[in-house]
Amino acid sequence: MKPIRTERLILRNWEQRDRALFHRINSDERVMEFFPFRRDGAAADAKMDELRAWIDEDGYGFAAAEIAATGECIGFVGLLQTDHVPSLPAGTIEIGWRLAPEYWRKGYVTEASEAWLSFGFETLELDEIVSFAVVENHRSIAVM
Ligand SMILES: CC(C)(COP(=O)(O)OP(=O)(O)OC[C@H]1O[C@@H](n2cnc3c(N)ncnc32)[C@H](O)[C@@H]1OP(=O)(O)O)[C@@H](O)C(=O)NCCC(=O)NCCS
Repeated sequence: MKPIRTERLILRNWEQRDRALFHRINSDERVMEFFPFRRDGAAADAKMDELRAWIDEDGYGFAAAEIAATGECIGFVGLLQTDHVPSLPAGTIEIGWRLAPEYWRKGYVTEASEAWLSFGFETLELDEIVSFAVVENHRSIAVM
């Protein structure tokens, strides 16, 4: 994908240096509070490789978000085709997010999402982008 620049962030494909952070946001209890799984290092590496290959193929995906001023990877925000939700039609595109806790409540997800929504509606010419969360996940619903 061509990196997307926002006011404070660079949205880009995954790099080797992101592996530790990606593992953390797949295993940290606070981050994963509303998910029924945790990924160990090997499973996180495999998932990151899968996301990276999809981004290479499609030009978008659950992409890394990096703070432009410091180069820190903070998590992911992006668009993804949902094929795992039986109630949604095949080909539905979701917007999703997951950051390491020290980067919460700074507006990074909202900022990145605005850029991804523009990309989805204008560049991909989508009619609809969906997002969903369990009802207890107030932080995610607030971003929506
Ligand atoms: C869900 C999640 C991504 C939300 O993160 P977040 O930090 O609350 O979202 P944002 O980055 O958009 O930040 C918004 C918050 O920052 C505050 N904020 C601070 N500075 C800001 C700024 N410059 N601009 C905008 N908002 C700012 C906002 O007021 C808001 O806080 P509030 O909800 O208390 O009003 C995060 O909690 C997370 O990663 N959770 C674990 C994974 C997860 O559940 N993913 C979703 C599954 S459905």
